[in-house]
Amino acid sequence: MFDKETRMRLENLSIINFKNIAEERLELSEGINCFVGHNGAGKTNILDAIHYLSSARSMHTITDTQSVRHDEDFFLIDGGFRRDDGRPEQVVCFYARRSGKTLKRNGKEYDKLSDHVGCLPIVVVSPADSSLISDSAEERRRYFNRLLSHLDRSYLAALMRYNTALAERNKLLKMNPSEEMLLIYDQIMSIAADTIFSVRTEVIERMRPLVEHYYALLSNERETIDMEYRSELQTTPLAELLLASRRKDFANEFTTSGVHRDDVLFSIAGFPLRKFGSQGQQKSFLIALKLAEYRLLAESGQERPMLLLDDLFDKLDMQRVAELLRLVGGDIFGQIFITDCNKHRLQHTLSEAGAEYRLFHVKEGGIER
Ligand SMILES: Nc1ncnc2c1ncn2[C@@H]1O[C@H](COP(=O)(O)OP(=O)(O)OP(=O)(O)O)[C@@H](O)[C@H]1O
Ligand SMILES: [Mg+2]
Repeated sequence: MFDKETRMRLENLSIINFKNIAEERLELSEGINCFVGHNGAGKTNILDAIHYLSSARSMHTITDTQSVRHDEDFFLIDGGFRRDDGRPEQVVCFYARRSGKTLKRNGKEYDKLSDHVGCLPIVVVSPADSSLISDSAEERRRYFNRLLSHLDRSYLAALMRYNTALAERNKLLKMNPSEEMLLIYDQIMSIAADTIFSVRTEVIERMRPLVEHYYALLSNERETIDMEYRSELQTTPLAELLLASRRKDFANEFTTSGVHRDDVLFSIAGFPLRKFGSQGQQKSFLIALKLAEYRLLAESGQERPMLLLDDLFDKLDMQRVAELLRLVGGDIFGQIFITDCNKHRLQHTLSEAGAEYRLFHVKEGGIER
């Protein structure tokens, strides 16, 4: 769809009836854009509007209806982009309580919202990321599934086949099925699991040194971290695992082995990050992970992702924020959107890092330069 290495940057953004923003239009910088204001002013809401242009959904687990401004019927987010070759592009996301959601690119409506996936890649660093460390493996699988689906179309297809077969198999296990019936699902799952396992192995191995690298920069090499893929398939093929756990599966009435049980272990100095990492160390890890994600997306796709840093100083000390700003101000990272509630601390740290930026004041859903 795009020529190699074209880049789109968001030049202007119009928002109508989106959360606490009634109607605003912003002219954005192609470099760093900062949004400052009090708690509840609407800073994160602006980032979420940008997220809608990329993914046609909120970056939080909320519904489209909840994003419509109270007492209004619709929201509209209109992004005016410009490509490197000078050509303009427009992406508009419209949602009405009555008629649902549409996404248009250059005036043409997408038949399927999923066709837009990857056209405007985005990487978000937000306080909500902490669930990636503190919550269950499911949260981590969801994160990596989304990333790997962006990087590799065959991954998404395999994952969908696997999950469908898994759901069928689990249904069957409740009905005292024959061995032959189960074997059919075992085979479908095994073939899909081969792809899932090999993509997970390959991408996590590629990501690992990048995460280490960014963490070292952020922490001034104060600590070492690691991440490691864990799967039962590392020792045994899935077909064998399924056979071996058959009696257990009958007893439990669900499938107890497979790639749906995989995890990625995060560690600091050799110990589990969740238990032994401080809040700032955990946050630094998550940023390193997201910057590594950025690199993979940028290398694989035709577009450089937009980088959203919500609540920049959340849990980080001045020094780490300064390192982060030096990092993202470099050549690799494209357009950046930052929020913080403390204008002076943000301005101070940005100027220390020698970064150029555009500053917006956000107040009760209103935005001023
Ligand atoms: N559908 C909605 N209609 C109207 N207002 C809404 C809606 N959804 C959220 N809000 C309001 O948006 C505000 C929160 O905005 P946002 O999360 O962007 O704040 P913020 O500036 O990021 O604050 P913080 O510094 O605490 O992160 C709240 O006042 C909330 O009531
Ligand atoms: Mg916020």
